[in-house]
Amino acid sequence: MGIRISPSLLASDFARLAEEAERVRDADWLHVDVMDNHFVPNLTLGAPVVEALARATATPLDCHLMIEAPDRWAPAYVEAGAGSVTFHVEAAAAPVRLARELRGHGARAGMALRPATPVEPYEDLLPELDMLLVMTVEPGFGGQEFLDLMLPKIRRARDLIDRHGLDLWLQVDGGVSAETVERCAEAGADMFVAGSAVFGADDPAAMIASLRESAASAARCRPPG
Ligand code: DX5
Ligand code: ZN
Repeated sequence: MGIRISPSLLASDFARLAEEAERVRDADWLHVDVMDNHFVPNLTLGAPVVEALARATATPLDCHLMIEAPDRWAPAYVEAGAGSVTFHVEAAAAPVRLARELRGHGARAGMALRPATPVEPYEDLLPELDMLLVMTVEPGFGGQEFLDLMLPKIRRARDLIDRHGLDLWLQVDGGVSAETVERCAEAGADMFVAGSAVFGADDPAAMIASLRESAASAARCRPPG
């Protein structure tokens, strides 16, 4: 199981996005949080900024859309240059159609679950996805405390993925840090979003390396799936 680290630019200096992307160039992906002030009570950036960022960095962009009506808006993020586009299932009218459209445009398709959204009803949809995001905080803001009570959901999601033999990345986002990354990896996550832990560190590159190492060693301790 590969380990991927995706620093969240939400915790970076928005006036210097290209330089901030450069500070974390050792990362596998760059996590871009798109918020519309409707799905979540916060507003960040949209497709024009993603397009500019895609031109400014070689790191692939992992766009997390915390927006209403993703069926309508998500494909524009593929056009803007995102390598992966994640929509929230709570907001999607037709998640299968949307995932197929994202893949058809050439991006990886991700689907996110808020903390109160269970994974089981979506078992049959999983083969349509490249990534499942289990939120480990209520979406909307960086710097929140990791919700330990999401660990059983991560485990259940990992079981479903393994049972179906899927090549589907399992992402965690919210409160992921040196203190919590091992618990996530032990539960079966393989892609780790970290905002304040990485951009708040004195040495973001060293923090990325340390998160990757901790996750990899915790993943090695998992019982075989
Ligand atoms: C929260 C966002 C996260 C956020 C994580 O709604 O989806 O990506 O940036 O920030 P930290 O890592 O500080 O919890
Ligand atoms: Zn996010």
